[in-house]
Amino acid sequence: MDAVILAGGLGTRLRPFTYKTPKPLMPLLNVPIVVRQAEFLRSLGATRLVVLVNASGRRIVSVLESSCVFPKVHVRYESRPLGTGGAVRSALDIIQGEWFFVMNGDVCFFGDLPKMGLCDESVIVVHEVTDATGFGLVRCENEMIEGFTEKPGEATSGFINAGLYRLWKQDVMLLAGGESASLERDLFPVLSSRGRLRAHVFRGFWSDLGTHERYLNAHYELMQKMAVFQGTPPSCNFQVIPPCCISPEARISSSASIGPYTTVGAGAVVGEGASIIRSVILPGAHVRAYAQIEGSIVGDLT
Ligand code: GTP
Repeated sequence: MDAVILAGGLGTRLRPFTYKTPKPLMPLLNVPIVVRQAEFLRSLGATRLVVLVNASGRRIVSVLESSCVFPKVHVRYESRPLGTGGAVRSALDIIQGEWFFVMNGDVCFFGDLPKMGLCDESVIVVHEVTDATGFGLVRCENEMIEGFTEKPGEATSGFINAGLYRLWKQDVMLLAGGESASLERDLFPVLSSRGRLRAHVFRGFWSDLGTHERYLNAHYELMQKMAVFQGTPPSCNFQVIPPCCISPEARISSSASIGPYTTVGAGAVVGEGASIIRSVILPGAHVRAYAQIEGSIVGDLT
């Protein structure tokens, strides 16, 4: 079965980091987001990976290729932004099979997705949240999607679109070829009004990674769930307050203090006496001696 990753967006909300690193290559606990996604799609039974990128997506493709999660990476480069719907519609010719998975390149799933039975409708994976501020709500009745409600202005609980779909090719063909379109705005409302859209609930950990705040929060929550350092790594000579995720290729001064809830990427340098709490230090970033960093993303923007 084919799986498609949408990785051609601009990542404007994660600027300035995405000026240098495309959002799908931003690390999540020191592994590029897109590699974690490929692993998740593989665990769902996908056997072939298609990645849809913009003209500067070569690095995304090369990281996916060297990860070897899928034996081959099939790519479509877009010369202009087509939106989520236009991108999938224009890639139908390289997607095999009558139905396939599609995943947004900026979401993270941790946990098992219950098996999706084969059904005649296209499927949106939904996730229940207590505060849907900033997301659109999905209205479901007996597993069928009845419609969508615009982003609520205040804290409202409910199901949100988790950015993972199983779509029938014939449904995507409803979009006009060669034109810019959005899956969320132009296709899904039409499918739901025709009774062709089903919801499938994911109850594990889910996060959108598209803003600074959500990107940081996903790190904190995943650190609690995954086996990251729960004690001081055996050979390190600096102070570590777990949980932390520290690349063995980071250079950390012996008098620095790292953690809790801190990630330090490969090639990052942390000077003497520096203290870093609840932060993500991106690969190659430099933290000066005696810097005090808390609740921040620090990157090398040169
Ligand atoms: P923002 O500019 O911060 O909104 O980021 P974005 O455009 O990357 O994210 P958005 O939430 O708009 O898009 C959701 C997903 O679809 C992201 O993984 C994007 O990479 C992807 N995406 C958005 N537009 C396109 C497009 O025109 N082509 C492709 N291939 N992917 C797209």
